[in-house]
Amino acid sequence: MKPYVLLLSAALAACCHSPKQGRPVYLDLSKPVEERVEDALSRMTLEEKVAMTHAQSKFSSAGVPRLGIPEIWHTDGPHGIRPEVLWDDWNQAGWTNDSCTAFPALSCLGATWDRELALAYGRSIGEEARYRKKDVLLGPGVNITRTPLNGRTFEYLGEDPYLSGQLVVPYVKGVQENGVAACVKHFAVNNQETRRTETNSIVDDRTLYEIYLPAFKAAVQEGGAWAIMGSYNLYNGQFNCHNKRLLCDILKDEWGFDGVVVSDWGGCRDDDEAVTNGLDIEMGTWTDGLRGAASNGYDQYHLANPYLERLRDGRATEDVLDDKVRRILRLSFRTNMSPEPHYGLFCTPEHTDVARRIAAAGTVLLKNDGVLPLAVPDGGRILLVGENAIKKMVVGGGSSSLKTRYEITPLEGLREALPGVDIAFERGYIGNIGTSYNNVSTGEDLSESRSADRLVADAVAAVETADVVVFVGGLNKSGFQDNEGTDRQQLDLPYGQEGVIRALAAVGKPLVVVNISGSPVSMPWADVADAIVQGWYGGSESGRALADVLTGAVNPSGKLPFTVPCSLEDGPLKTERQYPGIRVEGEQWWQEYYDEGVFVGYRWYDTRGIAPQFAFGHGLSYTDFAYGDVTLSRKELRKGQTLTAKVRVTNTGDRDGAEVVQLYVADPEASVARPAKELKGFEKVFLKAGESRDVTFTLDESALSWFDAGRHAWTAEPGEFRILVGSASDDIRSEASFNLR
Ligand code: GLC
Repeated sequence: MKPYVLLLSAALAACCHSPKQGRPVYLDLSKPVEERVEDALSRMTLEEKVAMTHAQSKFSSAGVPRLGIPEIWHTDGPHGIRPEVLWDDWNQAGWTNDSCTAFPALSCLGATWDRELALAYGRSIGEEARYRKKDVLLGPGVNITRTPLNGRTFEYLGEDPYLSGQLVVPYVKGVQENGVAACVKHFAVNNQETRRTETNSIVDDRTLYEIYLPAFKAAVQEGGAWAIMGSYNLYNGQFNCHNKRLLCDILKDEWGFDGVVVSDWGGCRDDDEAVTNGLDIEMGTWTDGLRGAASNGYDQYHLANPYLERLRDGRATEDVLDDKVRRILRLSFRTNMSPEPHYGLFCTPEHTDVARRIAAAGTVLLKNDGVLPLAVPDGGRILLVGENAIKKMVVGGGSSSLKTRYEITPLEGLREALPGVDIAFERGYIGNIGTSYNNVSTGEDLSESRSADRLVADAVAAVETADVVVFVGGLNKSGFQDNEGTDRQQLDLPYGQEGVIRALAAVGKPLVVVNISGSPVSMPWADVADAIVQGWYGGSESGRALADVLTGAVNPSGKLPFTVPCSLEDGPLKTERQYPGIRVEGEQWWQEYYDEGVFVGYRWYDTRGIAPQFAFGHGLSYTDFAYGDVTLSRKELRKGQTLTAKVRVTNTGDRDGAEVVQLYVADPEASVARPAKELKGFEKVFLKAGESRDVTFTLDESALSWFDAGRHAWTAEPGEFRILVGSASDDIRSEASFNLR
């Protein structure tokens, strides 16, 4: 055979039998994530690895262009998808296709006590994030309401760790079904806005584990959260965006978190700690207001050039870097390089429906002497009074502010719902006339020329011709109200609203007061109102949802996710050292002592016998529910066993409705001081008029335990326990006891 033929045949043979030149493993979507991670990691240079660990723009962190690994796009917020911003700017970029569905603020979701709605919420907002090509949703927030003055209470799920944990899990799962990471925030013990970047939270372990960690732990271990955001404050002397105990010892080691820790924007404060203490992606540095922006800032990030220098001179080791990068690659293979195709959905009728259902289901009927649901005949007149009847609330409040296609106000919602009724409006007071944030404007003109007295006089005069008066007031998203970066300065309603309420009541017509806020307000005027409704920042469909409840189209079923105290003085925070913190000789940062321990919210009021204005878990319905006696499956519980509690609930009214059946546990023989009762179960049951249903709860000793810091272990002590079942923390309908052996 001729030589060139031999050569040709050898070449052909080689190419037929060489290993298939298939796609690299990291790009092979059929391969397990961990194999893809290792393959991609093995191909990356040191510089490429370091680049992934920090921001490249205001809301993105680097990918690996050379390998076709996309950059990661982060977006606020917990209530909807933030409008696009310019590369290095907080202001909106002015796109015309990024007006989102604004879902209700999370304190409203907290008030629904509805796991199904929390799933629908997460699923919907995740669809919108994916459609907007975002990989990390910077939310939900699950910080516990320690003080009602916390400016970001509206972004969180209330004062109870069990309720927050039960709702954050479905929210996270719903988001992540879309190949979008939920980034649960702000980790941890970040319970105020006052001096948030310079305050050290000093918390004992029992309080940390019983109150401030459980919602995060549930998000990670039950929700499978792919990202966690460190918070601005310090805990036990270390900044939380690189806090070894929180991020390494607890989150990653104890809980087995395999996701990414993202800093809050500007929360990273130290070169060395950023490397060694569990931070994976540094975002927003230079934007915490403490230090001016640096030119070419992104290369000056703690995890940028300073990190490269440490790696090159041996002060930092590549194995620590590799752990960060593995987590970031895992995030990519779960999101923008996921094997499952995700395309998302944006501003759909379904999302609108979800927003409206959550806003209505979270609305809490606090008091009703029969004036609700509104029963004004056609031709009648309702007088609406109050700035919050016309003020759009989706814009403002800080990073959760949104640009939405529309927002229905209470006035618009009621007029739409009651076309045959004359709905008159009087301003009543002037609150905040701001209408824009980050270059997003509501388009409203809230300017007002009348004096405060004139406004009240005009409102009172208008009462004469009305059949019923509905005052719609409360707070708003401006500074020192429900607003990121500042705490409220008072628990009372601002802007002289109490005077307006009393003046209206004095006329003698039926008066409904709707408080629209994200946090509790004191209500010393409650006795002059015939009905009181806690409304929330309900998002795009806010006004329609409120009208649904006021007209009876929806039977209210919301329950308070936090206590409404009579006064701040009744609460557990008695000293400056508890809140908002004090200066201590020799300490660079403010020091704040969580001296109240586990006695937060109803755990305080209940145990101290201090009657609140309205209790945690309180909420009325337009129907009534009767409870049978709670029965237990056993009178003795041994370690490792479970116990079932059952109670029959009956809708005794003439209208279908939903009741949140709550189960609390009391440990009267505990060797330590424990709260009078603690929420350990709830079920929202929908019952037709006259319908009964058995509601069951299954408990094990985890529901009986307190955290023994000395042993660093949960402890359920033998002895008597009581199961208390009811409609609110202060409305126990039945109880039974058993013994733990
Ligand atoms: C803010 C907030 C955080 C937000 C981030 C990006 O300061 O604390 O919740 O996600 O920065 O806007």
